[in-house]
Amino acid sequence: MISHATDATDSTVTDEALRSLSGTADPRLRDLLTALIRHLHAFARETRLTREEWERAIGFLTATGQACTDTRQEFILLSDVLGLSMLVEEINGHQVPGATESTVLGPFHMTASPARELGATIDLVGDGEPCVVSGRVLSQDGTPLPGATVDVWQADRHGFYDVQRPDVQPPGNGRGLFTADPEGRFRFRTCVPSPYPIPTDGPVGELLAATGRHPYRPAHIHFIASAAGHAPVTTHIFVAGGDYLDSDAVFAVKDSLVRDFAETDDPVLAQEWGVANPFRHAHVDLVLERS
Ligand code: BEZ
Ligand code: FE
Repeated sequence: MISHATDATDSTVTDEALRSLSGTADPRLRDLLTALIRHLHAFARETRLTREEWERAIGFLTATGQACTDTRQEFILLSDVLGLSMLVEEINGHQVPGATESTVLGPFHMTASPARELGATIDLVGDGEPCVVSGRVLSQDGTPLPGATVDVWQADRHGFYDVQRPDVQPPGNGRGLFTADPEGRFRFRTCVPSPYPIPTDGPVGELLAATGRHPYRPAHIHFIASAAGHAPVTTHIFVAGGDYLDSDAVFAVKDSLVRDFAETDDPVLAQEWGVANPFRHAHVDLVLERS
């Protein structure tokens, strides 16, 4: 039973709430809930949380849930802007030196990328600066991984994903699922990505405004590389020299993921790759850890 201590900071409600978990069959779930209750109660005590603040927080979380749809994930966005998504990446990060570092998944991988031939374009609108991205999928010892899959998604040159602007982008624009060749190589055409603001028309946008933070992410392309016998990696490449590399709204930049998108004037290569000359070219080797 909860004792009615006169000093609220002496309350035994925390002990009572912790004891209530004793019947939790799954030991990991018990550990997680125990830590959650301890930290939540410590937070309320430390800040001397008022009823009005608690109600406001409940209202904020309710609005966050209500903003979620099949094509919008406001809770992932909230986790991202609080730095939690990136912390989880760091805690679970790859240990093998030289393996590609992971970064946040983000909320826009909610639709399957269409399978495309190597060398195909993912820019179905075709109004951006022409660009080729090439790379290899390698094992941690440098062995190529033929048949590896490379799932790619990016915003258009205006900074929107296909699901955000279905009126101007066909489904699958900016997305592709590629299968590496016998040497583990992949290549696709696209447009040079632009920095863009994360969605600000929901509760997370209000949070950013209230804290005086800008909503921008530096220009990037997302990847998930997978191969048999290896742990998949979820990552990005960032455009070197671009804005917001030092102030990503979701804290997801790692130096190892920044790539030159080099100005390339090579009519022979442009013809071979089916891209207008001149074009920009980025290369990325995706190095996977053996599982
Ligand atoms: C993205 O890069 O798609 C993204 C990541 C985190 C929050 C919003 C967008
Ligand atoms: Fe993105």
